[in-house]
Amino acid sequence: MKIAVLPGDGIGTETTQEALKVLDALRLPNLELSHGDVGAAGYRAKGHPLPEETLAIAREADAILFGAVGDPSCDNIERHLRPEQAVLGLRKELGLFANLRPAKAFAGLEAMSALRADVARDIDLVIVRELTGDVYFGEKKRETLPDGRRQGWDLMNYAEDEVRRIAHIAFRTAQGRSKRVTSVDKANVLETSRLWREVVEEVASEYPEIALEHMYVDNAAMQLVKAPGALDVVLTGNLFGDILSDQASMCVGSIGLLASASLGERSTQYGTFGMYEPIHGSAPDIAGQGLANPMATILSAAMLLRHSLGLEAQAQQIEAAVAQTLADGVLGGDLGGTAGTSEIGDAVVSRLLTTS
Ligand code: NAD
Ligand code: IPM
Ligand code: MN
Repeated sequence: MKIAVLPGDGIGTETTQEALKVLDALRLPNLELSHGDVGAAGYRAKGHPLPEETLAIAREADAILFGAVGDPSCDNIERHLRPEQAVLGLRKELGLFANLRPAKAFAGLEAMSALRADVARDIDLVIVRELTGDVYFGEKKRETLPDGRRQGWDLMNYAEDEVRRIAHIAFRTAQGRSKRVTSVDKANVLETSRLWREVVEEVASEYPEIALEHMYVDNAAMQLVKAPGALDVVLTGNLFGDILSDQASMCVGSIGLLASASLGERSTQYGTFGMYEPIHGSAPDIAGQGLANPMATILSAAMLLRHSLGLEAQAQQIEAAVAQTLADGVLGGDLGGTAGTSEIGDAVVSRLLTTS
């Protein structure tokens, strides 16, 4: 079982180290780790945010554990050399079109939600975000208009097959949950969304047991804070999913808690090939100080075991140890506590060892 470990930049390196501690504590036989540079670290070491060597390591693995990329020192370099191109490049090159971002309330953390505790307590949803299309990957350009004004372009587009395959993922996800899908779009304004809605309806007809509702993205942003417990599987495009998932994290309590899996069609010997990463970024404001909450990355490692290595029991063990650590009040500054990054990682490991 091969895992490519790509810690990246800023707190990505700190949280990945804790996730590796947790994986190590499971003492899985036949686990082989390989390490690669990505993001600003890749740019500094090899002159590119996604060096050839790193992409090769990623391709050879059964799964990728990814930290985060991004560095303010790269803010003014050309777009194709920015650290963020590493994560976009991996998603596109490896065909990882389906991004699952679960958000579930943790017992004992209700008071840390940005919402009232009685509202926060009911959260149990998963955002199914399309990951290799939309305005992220459409044509981009800069031009100067005849009158001298500068103009920027990003084309938002979806082809029907791109919508169809992510819709199938959402409906299949719903089969294993409460059999409801909320498809989020902006079909009252965008042609891309009108096609999205049409195709989602077509796919829905193949899943008569699943209830489908459509919601405009502005309303979805509102419903997510009004009554998040009413949402279950939220199917949406790349841009809307990016924004709604950061919002969902604060409904749970912190962006340091939300994990993600990015999956494609390729199978491995043990499961589905995928990349696993926290939904947060490199957090330059707290990087290097041992202040980052590593739970999102630790929970991403659990998703990796579940989806790519077929190790459901071990995934659940990690999730239970994380929940117990939080319930015991071992919290970082993001959750009103004082525990540091490695202290939190150690606390998860000790609970893992006592419960397994
Ligand atoms: P961010 O997610 O890095 O940080 C937003 C805020 O949340 C910051 O105040 C940060 O301190 C806090 N935060 C984030 N993760 C935390 C954690 N685990 N524990 C405690 N606090 C945490 O978003 P940003 O500041 O907008 O972006 C910083 C850089 O990261 C940018 O270069 C951006 O492009 C990049 N980014 C990368 C990824 C990725 O690699 N997948 C994701 C998002 C942003
Ligand atoms: C995320 C990040 C990325 C995205 C950036 C770093 C390209 O915000 O994974 O949520 O927008 O998808
Ligand atoms: Mn994001």
